[in-house]
Amino acid sequence: MDPTCTMGLCRFLFVVVFFLLPDAAPLKIKAYFNDTADLPCLFTNSQNLSMSELVVFWQNQEASVLYELYLGKEKPDNVNRKYMGRTSFDWENWTLRLHNIQIKDQGSYQCFIHHKKPKGMVLIYQMNSDLSVLANFSQPEIIEISNITENLCRNLTCSSIQGYPEPKKMSFWLKTENSTTVYDGVMQKSQDNVTELYNVSISLSVSLPAVTSNMTIICVLQTEPMKTELFSSPFYIDPKVPPFQPPDYTVWIATAIPLTLAIGIPLILRYIPCRRKKKKQPGVSNERETIKMERGESEQTKKRVKICVPKSSDEEFQCVVNSSEIPSGNRNATRF
Ligand SMILES: *[C@@H]1O[C@H](CO)[C@@H](O)[C@H](O)[C@H]1NC(C)=O
Ligand SMILES: *[C@@H]1O[C@H](CO)[C@@H](O)[C@H](O)[C@H]1NC(C)=O
Ligand SMILES: *[C@@H]1O[C@H](CO)[C@@H](O)[C@H](O)[C@H]1NC(C)=O
Ligand SMILES: *[C@@H]1O[C@H](CO)[C@@H](O)[C@H](O)[C@H]1NC(C)=O
Ligand SMILES: *[C@@H]1O[C@H](CO)[C@@H](O)[C@H](O)[C@H]1NC(C)=O
Ligand SMILES: *[C@@H]1O[C@H](CO)[C@@H](O)[C@H](O)[C@H]1NC(C)=O
Ligand SMILES: *[C@@H]1O[C@H](CO)[C@@H](O)[C@H](O)[C@H]1NC(C)=O
Ligand SMILES: *[C@@H]1O[C@H](CO)[C@@H](O)[C@H](O)[C@H]1NC(C)=O
Ligand SMILES: *[C@@H]1O[C@H](CO)[C@@H](O)[C@H](O)[C@H]1NC(C)=O
Ligand SMILES: *[C@@H]1O[C@H](CO)[C@@H](O)[C@H](O)[C@H]1NC(C)=O
Repeated sequence: MDPTCTMGLCRFLFVVVFFLLPDAAPLKIKAYFNDTADLPCLFTNSQNLSMSELVVFWQNQEASVLYELYLGKEKPDNVNRKYMGRTSFDWENWTLRLHNIQIKDQGSYQCFIHHKKPKGMVLIYQMNSDLSVLANFSQPEIIEISNITENLCRNLTCSSIQGYPEPKKMSFWLKTENSTTVYDGVMQKSQDNVTELYNVSISLSVSLPAVTSNMTIICVLQTEPMKTELFSSPFYIDPKVPPFQPPDYTVWIATAIPLTLAIGIPLILRYIPCRRKKKKQPGVSNERETIKMERGESEQTKKRVKICVPKSSDEEFQCVVNSSEIPSGNRNATRF
């Protein structure tokens, strides 16, 4: 036989192999949690076959059937229970719509089209797609953990809920008039074991005596996979206004003492820097880090905002964040 084939036959073989090859690059599709995913078949009915000759069905990676159209009629017999009532077929463009998408629906799907002939079924078309599911995190929200006995610190928590996939980075931006310091917090995350959505949060403890000018704190969540940044509303710290005054009227009286301290102690404290203590256990990271905030033009006017982060200490006037440590590599300051 002639080893070279005719152009027509080669193209025919190519087309058949291309469409029937099970590991042809799958089409990547995305859908939002609780929304609808379009699982396409992209079948161009070039032979103008009638639906009454075709068997069309979709299955998932475990070969569970989502939907079957048997000779033009819906056939639920083979459909897996978890897909019952969740699908609708779009006759216009051979697309199966899967409703109420869950994180568990991530994975690959296949659409098959068989031609039913008197001799039997012939697979004439197959298409693979990969579905990934997204859920938008809520806008990050900064809340203050009020505790009037710890008036020298402002404890802030920033949280964002019900998102997917897991984000990689969450930060506080501490802005003063002339500078911005970025503080990458240690992200606490929890995953719902039913919906598989994530809640994330970071904490920050700001030593008030070190805040000498108005400070604006913004929380930023960087979500995957697009690296979109979500910003919280700004949280203001005015050094002249003591914490927990408005809007919590119940702590009015109790605030009187902290207020006195807040006015009187800053001067003293300015000269008691939040110095690193000797580690008790070598190798265990249990230390405070000081983030410098550059202000003014000259190096001499450099002042400090203390962000004190030990797990435990007996030192006075100390701000403690219970759950997080600042790894020393996670600091950086941006000057405007
Ligand atoms: C899912 O969508 C329905 C209506 O479209 C809505 O009522 C429900 O709250 C949503 N659930 C979640 C978890 O977003
Ligand atoms: C199929 O058509 C519907 C509307 O008829 C549209 O919403 C959907 O995006 C289409 N899907 C594809 C894969 O073209
Ligand atoms: C496809 O077949 C239908 C009838 O089954 C016919 O009306 C239509 O013209 C045909 N289209 C083409 C492109 O052959
Ligand atoms: C999710 O966020 C993106 C932009 O960040 C937006 O385009 C999309 O509509 C949002 N989707 C939902 C379901 O909220
Ligand atoms: C406030 O702090 C004290 C001790 O520091 C603790 O016993 C108390 O439970 C805290 N209250 C709140 C509301 O966190
Ligand atoms: C996430 O936050 C929501 C709202 O605060 C809460 O209802 C849910 O239980 C949280 N889920 C997890 C896994 O922490
Ligand atoms: C979720 O996980 C927690 C702890 O792992 C468990 O106690 C709880 O029963 C689980 N809930 C469900 C609905 O599986
Ligand atoms: C600090 O903020 C207060 C309002 O919160 C404002 O009245 C004051 O002028 C601000 N000070 C500076 C130096 O910007
Ligand atoms: C910020 O910079 C301006 C001029 O660059 C200076 O006048 C001002 O005092 C600085 N503010 C602070 C709080 O250092
Ligand atoms: C700040 O957080 C630390 C550690 O969780 C806690 O000991 C302290 O009481 C908190 N202070 C306030 C004002 O909530």
